[in-house]
Amino acid sequence: MDYAARRAAFMQRIGEGVAVIPGACERLRNGDSEYPFRQDSDFLYLTGFNEPDAVLVLAPAAARDRTVIFLRDRDPAKEVWNGARLGVERAPFTLGLDAAYSIERLEDVLPDCLVGSGRLYYALGKDFAFDRRVLAAVEAAQDRGGRLRAFPQELVDPGTVLHEMRLHKDADEVAVMRRAAQITALGHSEAMRVTVPGMHEFELQAHIEFAYRRAGAQDVAYTSIVAGGDNATTLHYNTNRMRLDDGCLVLVDSGCELDGYASDVTRTWPVNRRFTPEQRAVYEVVLLAQRAGIETVKPGRGCRDFHEACVRVITEGLIDLGLLSGSVDENIETNAYRAYYMHGSGHWLGLDVHDAGRYRDDAGQYRALEPGMVTTVEPGIYIGRDATVPQDFRSIGIRIEDDILVTAHGNENLTADIPKTVDEIEAIVGAGACV
Ligand code: GLY
Ligand code: MN
Ligand code: MN
Repeated sequence: MDYAARRAAFMQRIGEGVAVIPGACERLRNGDSEYPFRQDSDFLYLTGFNEPDAVLVLAPAAARDRTVIFLRDRDPAKEVWNGARLGVERAPFTLGLDAAYSIERLEDVLPDCLVGSGRLYYALGKDFAFDRRVLAAVEAAQDRGGRLRAFPQELVDPGTVLHEMRLHKDADEVAVMRRAAQITALGHSEAMRVTVPGMHEFELQAHIEFAYRRAGAQDVAYTSIVAGGDNATTLHYNTNRMRLDDGCLVLVDSGCELDGYASDVTRTWPVNRRFTPEQRAVYEVVLLAQRAGIETVKPGRGCRDFHEACVRVITEGLIDLGLLSGSVDENIETNAYRAYYMHGSGHWLGLDVHDAGRYRDDAGQYRALEPGMVTTVEPGIYIGRDATVPQDFRSIGIRIEDDILVTAHGNENLTADIPKTVDEIEAIVGAGACV
């Protein structure tokens, strides 16, 4: 990744402003155990630097140091326990920045970085403790640059610039996302192969995540959802501790994270390999809806068009199955279809699984898709155990989700290799481990 080029592009867009972009801190899980560290995505996008407690300051109009990082000092005693730190001395050369300071000096040095710029790009409201430090630095900058009123008087969310950049993936990012998608494909295929009735959701989770790690992914992009039977009708179920009973479906929503980039895939399959007629009928509707949605992902189409395409096909299908009555338009207008399809059909994908970037323009209209954007397309149908429908339709939760790159003339389904048709699924489920 060309972090210097990203910083240069960002700095060109903020002009006379100064940006303060904090990285993530470690967070306690319990006792003195921490959650696994995950860098802040904006900070990672601009630096590639993966240590906690760092702050990037970009001041394009500064006379001297235009790119500055604050980071942890070297600490031999702590490094024995927690691993090597880059440290202040090596940071400028290693990260390609003009200057580095100890994070301990933030209060003292940050005001000087702010003096001279009238506009501060800082995302207020994400971390109140850090907000206070930044506002104190603005106050100190006012003291130091006050006579000329050369201190930040305007606050702008850096996301207005940065998230537009993140939304448009360059060739390097697409290459990583393509590889993340391939690894996720390996994991899902493996999970299908090892599925047998009686195993537990967490076993399937272990298989899929083992396949990711083995193929080189550092992590999952989000907590895997492995939901058998009725659990699949809880949209973000992720306790993953129930048994997978013969005759039920299992919904697996899981994606690896590779070099910070997410994949996000859902497949749903019968635990015993064979769909019941009702499961199959519902599955075919979701599949048809997903196909219709993916077809509308192309440059110039609105970023919500695929949702509307999915909703229409799902509503038609629910009527055909006898789960809704009346006309398609009526059921869409009154939102009756939402009894069985209650979420959107996709979201941007990138460093975050629900990635940065606006969906609407300033006039409130859904924006048009452009090459380099990546979106998921993920329709579903969820029929709970208490639904007033024939018994054989109850406890069916189905979602099908792929990761779609908008290309110059259409799209590329990055996760197309994962079995998806009824025949493909019935051929692979329970076929035995490969990894
Ligand atoms: N895995 C979360 C989502 O599909 O949005
Ligand atoms: Mn998704
Ligand atoms: Mn998902």
